Amino acid sequence: MSELAQKAETPVIDGKAVAATVIDKVKEARDWLVSAAGEKPGLAVVLVGENPASEVYVRNKGKKAEECGFHSVQHTLAADMPEADLLALIGKLNADAMIHGILVQLPLPDHIDEKKVIAAIDPDKDVDGFHPINVGRLGAGATDEALVPCTPAGSIILAKSALGSDLSGLEAVIVGRSNIVGKPVAQLLLAEHCTVTIGHSRTRDLPAVCRRADILVAAVGRPQMIRGDWIKPGACVIDVGINRVPAPEKGEGKTRIVGDVAFDEAVEVAGSITPVPGGVGPMTIAMLMANTVIAAARAAGRPDIADSVLKD
Ligand code: GUN
Repeated sequence: MSELAQKAETPVIDGKAVAATVIDKVKEARDWLVSAAGEKPGLAVVLVGENPASEVYVRNKGKKAEECGFHSVQHTLAADMPEADLLALIGKLNADAMIHGILVQLPLPDHIDEKKVIAAIDPDKDVDGFHPINVGRLGAGATDEALVPCTPAGSIILAKSALGSDLSGLEAVIVGRSNIVGKPVAQLLLAEHCTVTIGHSRTRDLPAVCRRADILVAAVGRPQMIRGDWIKPGACVIDVGINRVPAPEKGEGKTRIVGDVAFDEAVEVAGSITPVPGGVGPMTIAMLMANTVIAAARAAGRPDIADSVLKD
């Protein structure tokens, strides 16, 4: 094995346990913020239409916000509501001093322009980190001002939970170049002083590129595409994929969720690996809570109160 972290008893990273430590820090920061600044973090989640998966996500976000002691509001709007009404609601939430985080659940109905909606959110309340201002802040390395997208931020914390807090000099390969995962993960790993490669569908000999990685982040959205023999022995594998596939062994018409990595093969080779489900998923919601308390602390002029949330 390389100089990477010692092989732990099990290579499987417990995303739920790591997420729980983030949530504990969020609650602590929330309590400090209330006592020091009289400010309770507030999160507004906006759902348009009746997408069943989005309804579950939104409900879980609201529940977690309440568990964290936040002021939590949900706006549920009809699928055919005019875009202008949604923009007006965002304007109101931008001006509402009790709201520090605004999340508009995606996807939106076809008649609504997602880019326009995201651009309407106050960048300092954009807890998804999707606003072009936050994309620019992250690209410029201004992580103390940016709100960073939740899944990428959670992926870095998971990698550090396995490898320790110093990732500098490590070879990082990200498979997938999406705006919401691949590109921001690359920026974050660069900020951690990794040597970063982004592989994608046009990459020549993707398996060989992946085999260079000390940290391999899979974010392509293709079930079990990354095989065991694409992985360098001892590498840390972060699987961001959530793919629903048929599971005839569970009964006719049943499905199960798998990642972008062929887990059963990869777990034999990797030094550490996130499972799907139970890896990156729980971290995404924890990081949304982290971003909300960070936004509230900055708004109260006490960014220091939330500093600990992103520390190891
Ligand atoms: N839909 C699926 N994932 C997300 C997310 O992280 N943020 C928002 N706003 N919508 C989503």
